Amino acid sequence: MVAVSGAGEVSGEIIYDRTKELKEFDETKAGVKGLVDSRVVKVPRIFFNHSNVRLPLHEAESIQNHSNAPTQLSFPIIDLQECISDNKVSNRRKEVIDQIREASETWGFFQVVNHGIPTSVLEEMLQGVRRFFEQDIELKKPLYSRDATSKRVFYNSNFTLYSSPSANWRDSLYCLMSPAPFNPDELPPVCRDILLEYDKEVIRMGNVLFGLLSEALGLNFKHLTDMGCADGHSILCHYYPACPEPELTIGTSKHSDNDFLTVLLQDQIGGLQVLHQNQWVDVPPTPGALIVNIGDLLQLISNGRFKSVEHRVLANKIGPRVSVACFFSTSYLPSTRIYGPIKELLSEQNPPIYRETTVKEFTTYGHTKGLNGISALEYFKL
Ligand code: OGA
Ligand code: NI
Repeated sequence: MVAVSGAGEVSGEIIYDRTKELKEFDETKAGVKGLVDSRVVKVPRIFFNHSNVRLPLHEAESIQNHSNAPTQLSFPIIDLQECISDNKVSNRRKEVIDQIREASETWGFFQVVNHGIPTSVLEEMLQGVRRFFEQDIELKKPLYSRDATSKRVFYNSNFTLYSSPSANWRDSLYCLMSPAPFNPDELPPVCRDILLEYDKEVIRMGNVLFGLLSEALGLNFKHLTDMGCADGHSILCHYYPACPEPELTIGTSKHSDNDFLTVLLQDQIGGLQVLHQNQWVDVPPTPGALIVNIGDLLQLISNGRFKSVEHRVLANKIGPRVSVACFFSTSYLPSTRIYGPIKELLSEQNPPIYRETTVKEFTTYGHTKGLNGISALEYFKL
């Protein structure tokens, strides 16, 4: 990170007091939404993305030419019909488990439809997020914080503002929904009811998914929930304002998720991309669908079989874009439970490739490192 006082230019790179500018932005407590409301036409330099968001065309082409990927990739979409209410063995369930296994081993991502969450709940959830970010700034300011240790509900712009190499064109509302006790009064009134309703649905979805994923690994359907993978979760509501110069910045930097599993709801704007076979592939906004992705911890306990894949969100001239991510993880539990590659998946031919860790150690490492484009899993490799 460049943090040198004074202005100047060295070999084309502007040197400036980055920390000071980050602090000034942070202290407005108005986030990127505040910049857009004040009608900025230039993206401030703290948001410049130095890792070549959009490669020059010839480089982008060479990425594609070097991969064997077919030019027309279709993002996996899985119909959960008949798999959401019971765990009975049926041909349909077996088919879905095969699809989930295939998607989790290759893409690390898939969309699900007929998942049982009513479209009206999904739509109202997206509306609730808009209401939160578009309400009067004075109502939002008291919730602005970076203190994830004592607050269960807070909002800010860029969780890793000070540790990441470039700030993202995004504001986020963090709600640590479980473990109990959780006081619903802490949730912002403008989206409290829908958050509670969506939460109930997404917990149910999580349990269904962990059951299917367990079986996709050849384990009993209760295996991952018995390991505590669904014992904690948080909901992050993202707001990506329209950006005047989207090619200079990014909505969310390239990263993989540091949890077990993520369930993501996105609106119709688009911009989410997944790195697949060395190409950035768009995740097509699909009405009524939810996106599911494998997190780093599930890659670790599946001994690398399921992939936690890098993804990013492009900034966009149009907006706002809204998304809601539910992260299944127990990083906020005082648990000292040890997670390593699942013994049943190991053999002489398939020895462990990751060392054991606790969820806390794993996520703390990820937060310290920031969104720097390097997977935290690298550090836990044996
Ligand atoms: C995340 C994430 C994608 C999105 O929160 O980890 O990748 O579409 N979000 O907002
Ligand atoms: Ni993510």
